[in-house]
Amino acid sequence: MKAIWITAKGGPEVLELRDTPRPVPAAGEVLIAVKAAGLNRSDVYSRTSKSYGKDQPMIPGLEVAGTIVEVGPAAAAESGPTSKNPSGSPTSSRWKPGDQVCALLTGGGYAEYVAAPAGQCLPIPAGWSLEEAATLPETVFTVWLNAFQTGGLKRGEHFLVHGGSSGIGSTAIQLAKALGIPVYATAGTEEKCRWCESLGATRAINYKTQDFESELKDIGIDVVLDITGGDFTPKNLRLLREDGRLVFINAMRGAQSTIDIPRIMQMRLVITGSMLKPRDIAFKSALAADVEKQVWPLIAKGALRPLIFARFPLSQAPQAQQLMETSAHLGKIVLDVG
Ligand SMILES: NC(=O)c1ccc[n+]([C@@H]2O[C@H](COP(=O)([O-])OP(=O)(O)OC[C@H]3O[C@@H](n4cnc5c(N)ncnc54)[C@H](OP(=O)(O)O)[C@@H]3O)[C@@H](O)[C@H]2O)c1
Repeated sequence: MKAIWITAKGGPEVLELRDTPRPVPAAGEVLIAVKAAGLNRSDVYSRTSKSYGKDQPMIPGLEVAGTIVEVGPAAAAESGPTSKNPSGSPTSSRWKPGDQVCALLTGGGYAEYVAAPAGQCLPIPAGWSLEEAATLPETVFTVWLNAFQTGGLKRGEHFLVHGGSSGIGSTAIQLAKALGIPVYATAGTEEKCRWCESLGATRAINYKTQDFESELKDIGIDVVLDITGGDFTPKNLRLLREDGRLVFINAMRGAQSTIDIPRIMQMRLVITGSMLKPRDIAFKSALAADVEKQVWPLIAKGALRPLIFARFPLSQAPQAQQLMETSAHLGKIVLDVG
């Protein structure tokens, strides 16, 4: 099969299309013939950052959609939808060859075939193409986990998401809007801000020309989903009202921040965060089950719309990642594979 490999740490030129043996699905896995793969910022970090991911050559790609062509041995032998294979990971007999799925991966998505844990596969939402569904797993799982499960965001509260026009931000805005939660966003251009508002943001603020703290100081934010860290952290903490939650999923403005500890105590603020990629199969499968129960019905009702900004053939993964690094995109970038 053809696959894109990160051959060394470096610029987009280290991404190479190579002939590679087709993976064999292990116990509890299914083999997917990939139709499309979603791009995520993490794929770029895997290529550029020495402290991020494995150093040896690897195939990037955290999410795909396609058709199951083979079911791994233990998964095929299992009888129940919630039974466990010997490694402790949930497996499922619900999938069979010919089923179309989207899947959350730990890597390997930039390829014609990928083996995925059965529990990390979800059905394609009605009315969504495979290319569109390939944009769902990483963003929906991350937003559901961090804003709703960990952050406890609920109706009656106010939500702020930074990077509103990113894959993550655009998903967060749409999900919050669908659940009747007023959502505020920041983004780096006026065009991005208006786009966030068209997705359902009550207000989006251009953080490059306006101070989002003074613009939002009268709102009273309950949950911040934050990709920024750095100098935004003190502002985020000052915007939170009592029992507010600040949830980090990255620190694109800096890993270090100053924190006003007395304010945390006075306001009973919670600071937390997480990284989805390193979590184990059992965790991701449980998250998939909750996403299918809670979010898939919302998608069926039109809560999310596909937001594909650009599509590239698999061989042009370097150009696709180059576009992502410019941050010029709105929403998602997709690789057409199959
Ligand atoms: N922890 C986890 O489990 C997890 C999982 C998935 C994603 N993430 C993180 O979530 C973020 C979004 O991911 P994605 O795949 O959706 O990426 P993406 O579409 O490439 O979006 C990244 C966004 O970051 C914004 N940005 C870049 N530098 C910034 C800065 N200095 N200050 C403020 N905003 C800045 C850019 O928008 P502007 O033009 O508006 O600046 C861009 O839209 C990434 O940081 C990613 O690492 C974390």
